[in-house]
Amino acid sequence: MNQQNQTKDFFKGHASEWQIKASDEVYHTINDRHRAAHRTLSQYDKGSTLLDVGCGTGQLAIESAENGYESLGIDFAREMIDQCKINATDSESKAEFEVASVFDYSPKKKFDVISAMGFIEYISLDQLDEFLDFCFVNTTDNGAVSIGSRNRLFNVTTFNDYTEMEKKLGSLEELIDESSICIRSTNTNEYLESLRGYVGSNSLIQNDTHPLTAIGVETRFQFTPSDLMQRIESHGFKVTNIYPVNYHAFLPIINDNKIKTLRKKISDLISIEGQSDFRYIPNSSSFVIEAKK
Ligand SMILES: C[S@@+](CC[C@H](N)C(=O)[O-])C[C@H]1O[C@@H](n2cnc3c(N)ncnc32)[C@H](O)[C@@H]1O
Repeated sequence: MNQQNQTKDFFKGHASEWQIKASDEVYHTINDRHRAAHRTLSQYDKGSTLLDVGCGTGQLAIESAENGYESLGIDFAREMIDQCKINATDSESKAEFEVASVFDYSPKKKFDVISAMGFIEYISLDQLDEFLDFCFVNTTDNGAVSIGSRNRLFNVTTFNDYTEMEKKLGSLEELIDESSICIRSTNTNEYLESLRGYVGSNSLIQNDTHPLTAIGVETRFQFTPSDLMQRIESHGFKVTNIYPVNYHAFLPIINDNKIKTLRKKISDLISIEGQSDFRYIPNSSSFVIEAKK
């Protein structure tokens, strides 16, 4: 089945599960990546505008409205937007929500920040180009994007089916090279400059299907920071920061409840205290790129 149709089918049937996941104390990727978007938004005056694409159950837009921003969330799964509206009513939020695919959406105004968390994995590389054009056209003159991605560098140290996949693709060496650029950089600017000039990721091939996780969609793309950064910058933005999301102090396979709780504590600490320290990226399952015009 086509990737976007499969995605829509899956999320239409999983709005209530997503609602639980988004408020789960232990599963924290969602909160962690929202923190990164809040960091970007906080660089804009109160009253500035946010569009959250693929907003799921709406927590990012609702929290942003609570923080004094004008926020709108869109999602192509009606059931997700129904849940967003319940959440907005329950919290007396001014956040607004609409059912729409971003690929058919013409906003009535430009936004200071466009965010997309856990979204680009469900679109093709051509659609990613289309989405980044959309972001450029629909952000204000000094606008920004905050885009979350599954982290392909993480496959090096998970020692799971994803590592096997990279072994078969012959891409481990490039991934290790890019990870070592990250670890060896001494400050954010040096790191970002090195990624700009890094050509290794250009030879990385993406598989059409991926080992399945809890999300029943066969094609969920992953990116390395340099790969995604170069794609975003080729659409007119300049990357200003890359935030690690869901740092794994323990292998993902070690998953009993005590370890899950400890993992969350450590990851929270890193995301709250040290989110701008890019050196946590190779061992984080996701990252968020902030880029400005
Ligand atoms: C993994 S969920 C992430 C939800 C939310 N951003 C979060 O972080 O909790 C991805 C969401 O993107 C939505 N989505 C996928 N493709 C879309 C499209 N073309 N337009 C709008 N929403 C889309 C899905 O319906 C789903 O709710």
